Amino acid sequence: MEVKILDLARQYEKIQEKVEQAVCEQMRSGMYIGGKAVADFEKKFADYVGVKHAISVNSGTDALVIALKALGIKDGDEVITTPFTFFATAETIAIVGATPVFVDVDEETYNIDPDKIEEKITDRTKAILPVHIFGQPVDMERINEIARRHNLAVIEDACQAVGAETGGRKTGSLGKAGCFSFFPTKNLGAFGDGGMITTDDDNFAIICRAFKEHGMAQNGAKARYILHGVEDDLADTVSPDGLYNPYKYYNYLIAYNSRLDAIQARALDIKLDYLDAFNSRRAEIAAFYEKELSGLSGVITPKVKEGLKAVWHQYAFRCEKKDEMGNFLASKGVSSAAFYPVPLHLQKAFEYLGYQEGDLPIAEKLTKQTVCLPIFPELNEEELQYVVACIREFFA
Ligand SMILES: Cc1ncc(COP(=O)(O)O)c(C=O)c1O
Repeated sequence: MEVKILDLARQYEKIQEKVEQAVCEQMRSGMYIGGKAVADFEKKFADYVGVKHAISVNSGTDALVIALKALGIKDGDEVITTPFTFFATAETIAIVGATPVFVDVDEETYNIDPDKIEEKITDRTKAILPVHIFGQPVDMERINEIARRHNLAVIEDACQAVGAETGGRKTGSLGKAGCFSFFPTKNLGAFGDGGMITTDDDNFAIICRAFKEHGMAQNGAKARYILHGVEDDLADTVSPDGLYNPYKYYNYLIAYNSRLDAIQARALDIKLDYLDAFNSRRAEIAAFYEKELSGLSGVITPKVKEGLKAVWHQYAFRCEKKDEMGNFLASKGVSSAAFYPVPLHLQKAFEYLGYQEGDLPIAEKLTKQTVCLPIFPELNEEELQYVVACIREFFA
């Protein structure tokens, strides 16, 4: 039997009719950038996350870059983050000119360990960037409390955690800003790249809107005023259909072009209706793996902290013989993944930071041990039983 790590074509079958209808309608409309489709999806996403503003962008990476820029993070600043994550988390800190400062993770949750954050804070630290890795929320209460005491901003990297909750609140609503990715493999995936920034802060939202579109027109002028105190009181002269704006080609800040396509917004709008059901099915699969694997000697299953709702972007268990396990599963037709094989502080791209092996031992251990199993909503019982049978056979 073949079990893929992810099979997006199977998900597409379920939603094909609705998505194709919406996307074709959008293509017939002649509106491909911005407009109602994007505004409607932003509103729906903001309501889902429980925040005032959602600003769509071209990717999760851009969401992080723009959020960091909008916070004013720059050369000479430090941002505290986790080494056990996708490269973009720390790459974006470096892109804006700041230094990523890595803090080791918790062995059970794989998330940044709040107990180890304060010892890394210096007078150059400007923000904490926790990641809800694999869909399990970070202890945001602790992180926000540390941030308050040291006057730091908090940006959540919620790229893997759309729909996850802590204390009844959704990830992306718990810091100054939340950053999401709609990369196709994510729990809410587009048919290409996409991303979103969420926030409750009106001024921060205006700055992000300006930065995503060339610092232009009314948002650009308002953002320049917020950032630099220079006033340009532009009349809100957009025509009722939103198509004509005399200030469109007036630019006030050096910024980016990072927009979510209208057809992606239409597709994501439809997929958002399915997200909770898809996440529940992921949780059922995780519960099945936990029941079947937690008693096996040689296996350490992932643990979710009490009171949290994880959305199981990945199911990553630990095992001493990670590579042998991956090869054995592959020989049986089961694909698995090695998220993440290198902790970020030891990535060649971050060599200039001067970290050594042994500096962050838990993250280093996890990268040698984590094996990610297939966990997507369309997996059936037969496939799940087969995956577990293969793992049992490996240990037998
Ligand atoms: C934790 C994390 N941060 C950032 C990103 C970057 O998102 P994107 O691929 O949409 O740029 C991803 C996804 O790939 C991610 O998993």
